[in-house]
Amino acid sequence: MANLSALMLARDLKLLLEERSKAVAYTSSQTHSSLAKGLGILGFHPSQIRKVTCDDSMRIGTALLRSAIEQDKALGKTPFLIVGKAGTTNTSTVDLFIELAAIAREQNLWLHADGAYGASALLCQSRRAILCGIELCDCLSWDAHKWLFQTYGCGMVLVRHRQFLTESFGTTAEYTQDAAETGESLPNFWSYGPELTRPARAMKLWFSFQLLGLNTIDIAINRGFELAETAQSSLEGLKDWEILSPAQMGIILFPFHPHVPAANLDEVNMRISQSAIENNLAATLTTRVRGVLVLRIYSIHPNLSDDEMLAIINGLDQLAHLYLSRASKDDII
Ligand SMILES: Cc1ncc(COP(=O)(O)O)c(C=O)c1O
Repeated sequence: MANLSALMLARDLKLLLEERSKAVAYTSSQTHSSLAKGLGILGFHPSQIRKVTCDDSMRIGTALLRSAIEQDKALGKTPFLIVGKAGTTNTSTVDLFIELAAIAREQNLWLHADGAYGASALLCQSRRAILCGIELCDCLSWDAHKWLFQTYGCGMVLVRHRQFLTESFGTTAEYTQDAAETGESLPNFWSYGPELTRPARAMKLWFSFQLLGLNTIDIAINRGFELAETAQSSLEGLKDWEILSPAQMGIILFPFHPHVPAANLDEVNMRISQSAIENNLAATLTTRVRGVLVLRIYSIHPNLSDDEMLAIINGLDQLAHLYLSRASKDDII
């Protein structure tokens, strides 16, 4: 809902009605699927979305982005939106927002930051520099049900001016006239988002801030960074493990990579993941990056201890070698 709301603002503030059919939005190969879904809900065809290739660090390639925009303009299209990633789902990569903002300014495009997961690093004083340039975006989505420890769903969208929201979402009707907004201090939330009747989702977050205070939240977020770093240094001391994407904002990707035929590696890693769940060790699920199937740790529970994280890594190592020895005995690999 947060990303959808942001996309609607971009559409309404950057496009005339008659421009919508030739409009183009720029995302990347690592942009979360909810953005394409949101653009689809808003009536855009998949051919109106460019998935710009990412560089080796999984950031949107800014030179490629610039040339895609120029190319579309030359074809008579109307570029209107760049979506930057403030923490990708796969690797927690942050795009180069200073460069994205410069392109957006030059080309008069809307710049949205998807910080569903990563924006929480802004509340961690010692780590927030990782999101440098995010303040230049036109709007930011941020899920409190991810790294602000709330129950589902508590998505937020931050915009530069509140009237951006009312211009897109404001409605009036005779049956709501008695509850018309009387001033900035008492907003009618139905005019700030897609829903009319809605739960008070923000209350739980407000209570958490009041009860815990910013310092405790800062420490809890920092713990996510630390746990992934602990996992990484433990893996670095073990045989046959590779770090495909180092610890970044609580996420680390690490395939098991023993000397077996390359064609078997996906299966081996899939089996380790399944076996970790079956053995109630951890939900170390898989993802695929640059074609490679990898194990992924997303370590944002602030109560997990270093010892527990080390036990998970050692447990994965044991399961991996157990599978390897059984599979080679049975001639499967
Ligand atoms: C970067 C990013 N954006 C958007 C989303 C979608 O968030 P939700 O599942 O709350 O709709 C996710 C979910 O994992 C995400 O990681």
